[in-house]
Amino acid sequence: MPTSEPAATEPYRPRLHFSPARNWMNDPNGLLFHDGTYHLFFQHNPGAPEWGDIAWGHATSSDLLTWTEHPVAIPATEHEMIFSGSAVVDAANTSGLGSAGAPPLVALYTSAYRDHPVHGGKQAQSVAFSTDGGRTWEKFAGNPVDDRDRTDYRDPKVFWFGPPEGGHWVMVAVDADASRLVVNVSDDLLAWRTASTFTDPRLPGMWECPDLFPLVAEASGAGGVAGGDVRWVLVLSTGGPGQHYVVGDFDGGHFVADAAVPTGRVDHGADLYAAATFNGLDRRVLIGWMGQAFRAPTSPWQGIMSAPRDLALRAVNGVLRLVSRFSPELDRAEREVVSVDGLAVGGDGAGAVVVGRGAALQQRVRARIVPGSAAFAGIRVLVGESCGTRIGYDRAAGELVLDRSASGIVAHDGFATPRRVPVRLVDGALTLDVLTDSMSVEALANDGEVVVSELVFPEPGAVGVEAFAEGGGAVVDVRVSDVLPGLLAD
Ligand code: FRU
Repeated sequence: MPTSEPAATEPYRPRLHFSPARNWMNDPNGLLFHDGTYHLFFQHNPGAPEWGDIAWGHATSSDLLTWTEHPVAIPATEHEMIFSGSAVVDAANTSGLGSAGAPPLVALYTSAYRDHPVHGGKQAQSVAFSTDGGRTWEKFAGNPVDDRDRTDYRDPKVFWFGPPEGGHWVMVAVDADASRLVVNVSDDLLAWRTASTFTDPRLPGMWECPDLFPLVAEASGAGGVAGGDVRWVLVLSTGGPGQHYVVGDFDGGHFVADAAVPTGRVDHGADLYAAATFNGLDRRVLIGWMGQAFRAPTSPWQGIMSAPRDLALRAVNGVLRLVSRFSPELDRAEREVVSVDGLAVGGDGAGAVVVGRGAALQQRVRARIVPGSAAFAGIRVLVGESCGTRIGYDRAAGELVLDRSASGIVAHDGFATPRRVPVRLVDGALTLDVLTDSMSVEALANDGEVVVSELVFPEPGAVGVEAFAEGGGAVVDVRVSDVLPGLLAD
């Protein structure tokens, strides 16, 4: 769906986040930057607004913010659904599926076999390829290319390891029900050999959608890691909301966790799952699926993608942590509405102060909150006549709180329970960078140390921003910007 003007009949249609024009979407798949174009494939039921008959949908973008949806790239058949996976440019045509002058794009996806005469009930990894830059896709005749004879083996993430000459392909996939990562290697994307398996008792649950990539540590951390060291980050969805990561080392065939570095959450929100990073970029950009096991009051589609985030590894209190920042593409679409410093709230003054109003629901709100004597202080975004989402600091608990109990439509049981995440104050203050769209709030605290992404369904025209404090006085700096695709600078 091109993110143009929202239709009055679709009040929750996002403008900064991809949503399918119609019907169901879950995980991002095959995230690939190629020839100046970002490709986003996605788990899609083209025929209904609920999960089923899963195919790979397709959208492209030149700026990571505005997306154009294309016809289904890899359709389901009577024998298989097309579960999650990834895509690469096979630049040296190692697969032979293209030609030296016209390298193919190759997708590895999970064949979730239905009543197939040979593979029925199994999940195995298959190949599809494109020789027209990703527009159309053909299934490889020799599928599946990787079969462990299992019913829960899926979600291959493929990347090139090593130098252009002398390296090899790596595929990480999961024995989902056994919480086990399977590392496969190949020279041609078609013949695969299992090099190792990995599990981590710190992360029980159904393992789905693994991703594995190197990052350069920004500063020294625990476990003898120094700034400038390369560490490998394993990202895993573990069956519930949010998403986890493990920091470790990878030699091209074996992943070993750094025991001294605790596992962490990529995102603490209720509505971020199955996130993955792009192949083909020299930075690590992550996009996740926002939408979980509830029927959102959106029609005719279900599910949106998160905003893109650039990932980094940083020492926080001496511990190496994966941090997220909104991708810089978002900054280019901003126009400042209001900027207020030293706003006193609570105490003897009013408990809530209006900061300003954006032009639309698409806003970036940056705040610095010095809680002072307040028990709970922060900002309220997407404020309408009778709604608003609160993001603030609970001083006694030392927690970041995202409270959508009065955010608009309360979409399911548990929706109104505030999200609470331990967070530190830096120089006595909590800093927030919050992005809102028609049906989402994504909050980054302390330059991306803590991320909380959740869906909200505000009333129309809920474009206000407030600062608030309860049980004492706080001081808040706030800057509100509109973020609209139409503002994109060149
Ligand atoms: C994660 C997931 C994947 C699977 C896909 C099916 O949300 O369960 O493990 O490949 O969705 O749609």
